[in-house]
Amino acid sequence: MFPATTITRGLIAALLASSPALSSPTPQPPNDNPSPLPLPVHTIAQFPVGTWIENIAVRSNGDLLVTSLFPNASLYTIANPSSRSPSVSRLFTVGAAPVAGSITGLLGITEVTHDYFVFVNIDLGNNTQGLWGVDFNTPYSSPPKPHLLVSFPNSSGLPNGATTLPGSDRIVFVADSGLGLIWRVDIVAKSLSVALQVPETNHTGPAPASIGANGVHVHEGYLYWTNTEHVALYRVKITSQGWPVPGAAVETVKVFTPGAAAVDDFAFGPGGRDVAWVLTPVENTLMAVGLDLDGRSVAVAGSVDSSAVAKGTAAQFGRTARDKEVLYVVTGGDSVGGTEEGGKVVAVDTRGFHF
Ligand SMILES: *[C@@H]1O[C@H](CO)[C@@H](O)[C@H](O)[C@H]1NC(C)=O
Ligand SMILES: *[C@@H]1O[C@H](CO)[C@@H](O)[C@H](O)[C@H]1NC(C)=O
Ligand SMILES: *[C@@H]1O[C@H](CO)[C@@H](O)[C@H](O)[C@H]1NC(C)=O
Ligand SMILES: *[C@@H]1O[C@H](CO)[C@@H](O)[C@H](O)[C@H]1NC(C)=O
Repeated sequence: MFPATTITRGLIAALLASSPALSSPTPQPPNDNPSPLPLPVHTIAQFPVGTWIENIAVRSNGDLLVTSLFPNASLYTIANPSSRSPSVSRLFTVGAAPVAGSITGLLGITEVTHDYFVFVNIDLGNNTQGLWGVDFNTPYSSPPKPHLLVSFPNSSGLPNGATTLPGSDRIVFVADSGLGLIWRVDIVAKSLSVALQVPETNHTGPAPASIGANGVHVHEGYLYWTNTEHVALYRVKITSQGWPVPGAAVETVKVFTPGAAAVDDFAFGPGGRDVAWVLTPVENTLMAVGLDLDGRSVAVAGSVDSSAVAKGTAAQFGRTARDKEVLYVVTGGDSVGGTEEGGKVVAVDTRGFHF
């Protein structure tokens, strides 16, 4: 049965991290940014070869929550990430009992209400996908027990990035890379609707080996998403209820070609900075992108021959006074310069950055 595992792993890895249809990376345009680049990066958690860390959320106490896509569907926590000795532990694995044919992984994760997180779980063995919840409010069982909230109905989908509608205690957006759309999930009513299905959320190639909308986040009244195959960041204005404003146009914030062959998830920074921090996993780079629609961007960490943020999958800023300007980047693990490493979590110090 494991040839299937290998094929699926390889396929999904290729899907999530690259866009083979596009040409090899070309150099970034010259950097006219006077701030010291690259930004300082240091590793705070290193996972074994074969572990792919896919996404990240931050608890209000500052601890990180990271999801693994391979080798199984685990949620890890990294306590005290800004201390000298962050500690990593596995909280749980969904589908812990091995089931023949099951190939499970976790993807996007987002906090909905205080210390209540939801995350995407997929099973490639039977093509089922769900949005699960886990509650860290005390008292909770140790380890906390996750529960299925809602199943995605379309087996050809690949729910991926997730984010919460700001100001809402129940609405979550999930980018579906396989269906090429963005779901709006009401986790209280346990109902799903399509928030957005437009050419800019779609993929370009035939399903299933094709990845459209990937990361999704809300900033200043706009829903933003990356499209892996378009190698682009887009946005649309949304209402406070989490629907596109009627008649609002989809805007192109940045097209990363030439320069990048794929984009993965991204993050918005601490207040006052109109910057999206975007991972380009084929070029092993973290990009800072201005939101003025003038296409301004700069590579702030990593490079094609560096393992600093190699195969970066997602990022989030810290939430404590100590690390609110630290961008935590998670990676799928990669082989750079002949050295293979597993997924990891790195801290990028963004204090020196300005456009
Ligand atoms: C999941 O994978 C991790 C990392 O290899 C391993 O430590 C853990 O035992 C696995 N869990 C299950 C339930 O298979
Ligand atoms: C899919 O497989 C998982 C893991 O084996 C199992 O928990 C789940 O119930 C299955 N779902 C369906 C619809 O068969
Ligand atoms: C999901 O699948 C159902 C049943 O096959 C279909 O009617 C519906 O249009 C699909 N929705 C999307 C968004 O693909
Ligand atoms: C999305 O793109 C696929 C080709 O990858 C195409 O078959 C499909 O019709 C498109 N869907 C929409 C809603 O545009």
